[in-house]
Amino acid sequence: MERHASALALVLASSPDLPVHCVRPQATEKAAGWFLDRFPGEVLYALKANPHPAVLDAVYRAGVKWFDVASMREIELAAGRYPDATLAFMHPVKARSTIRRAYFDYGVRIFAVDSCAELDKIIAETGGASDLTIIVRLAVSSDYAKHKLAGKFGAAGPEATTVLRKARVVADELGISFHVGSQCMRPEAWRIAMENVSETIRRAGVTVNIVDVGGGFPACYAGLTPPPLETYVDEIKAAFEDMPVLLNADLWCEPGRALCAEAGSHIVRVELRKGHALYLNDGAYGALFDAAHDGLVFPAQLLRAEGRPARPLKAFRLFGPTCDAIDAMDGPFFLPADVCEGDYIELGLTGAYGAVLATKFNGFGDYLEAELADEPMMSMYGEQAPASADIIAFDPRHAEHAAK
Ligand SMILES: Cc1ncc(COP(=O)(O)O)c(C=O)c1O
Repeated sequence: MERHASALALVLASSPDLPVHCVRPQATEKAAGWFLDRFPGEVLYALKANPHPAVLDAVYRAGVKWFDVASMREIELAAGRYPDATLAFMHPVKARSTIRRAYFDYGVRIFAVDSCAELDKIIAETGGASDLTIIVRLAVSSDYAKHKLAGKFGAAGPEATTVLRKARVVADELGISFHVGSQCMRPEAWRIAMENVSETIRRAGVTVNIVDVGGGFPACYAGLTPPPLETYVDEIKAAFEDMPVLLNADLWCEPGRALCAEAGSHIVRVELRKGHALYLNDGAYGALFDAAHDGLVFPAQLLRAEGRPARPLKAFRLFGPTCDAIDAMDGPFFLPADVCEGDYIELGLTGAYGAVLATKFNGFGDYLEAELADEPMMSMYGEQAPASADIIAFDPRHAEHAAK
């Protein structure tokens, strides 16, 4: 992979015809190091968020040796690259053949379930193994998350107590997990979830060895600034200590977004401007899915040789290259008023659920890749915004002001 000092340096050097996925492994290493230092338990990287080898290596280099995997491909990837890694198969619905291969060929011992039927599959396909760690995923609310995950997975009501009791009998270790939804903006979501989960454990009358508080830890997007990550860890720590049902249980978390969002940015080119709409060479069917479907506003900066973005800033709507009308990103994205066809824009914080979601729809979906040495545009981990980034350009409140 080519390495450049910054997105601007890359554009000046090569004027790329394709959109560019940019990777900053150093940002992931910092984020993973932060979690290892501050989270009072095991940290598993949910590699679905960004399985790029440079990101995986950065996570591993920082010291994260446990991975949350959800498919055969993810198991092959993690086990092939890191033979000493511990893999936790956290998808609550698995093919029987995948369970067999995970257990017998890859040594996976940690499996998530959210139903008795799935538990039965695991018992059958592992030949009634006695060395299993079963993690029962419980349903919790996604109320405080930007990207909701409630409604698809998670045992609730009588099924929750039945599956917990049944899992306790067959499991060597029994855990519970939940997911408060991705990009969760309020730390108290975990306390509420942990109180509800305690109630379910009490009703089931089982002892639990592991509490896995899932992912959901936020990144910092334009106009979507979460409280400091310390407050999340403090809330979880306090809520964990208050869980009356535990005896020496271990605490786990499975961050995805928080470890890789800052590692990514994305260089796009303006192919046409129509008023306040910019038609780009990537979009909702590419690496910008979250901007279209979750309304995330990635911080944007115009990549022009003169450096600091010109004033005033104006609000723009972005469109992707496919023929579908939903290939649109409302933002608003604040960019210099004179942005025009042929300009390159860097969209920051695209590292989570970005490149990995890109499709080939409509014949698009080809990318270049580059490693960048500079700091992410915005960070949950840095002491301060980097000097090279004009933070005013990324924050809609300032931009609106500047645009007047
Ligand atoms: C089981 C599980 N764990 C962890 C994650 C990572 O979540 P996030 O990226 O919000 O941290 C996900 C995301 O879907 C998930 O399904």
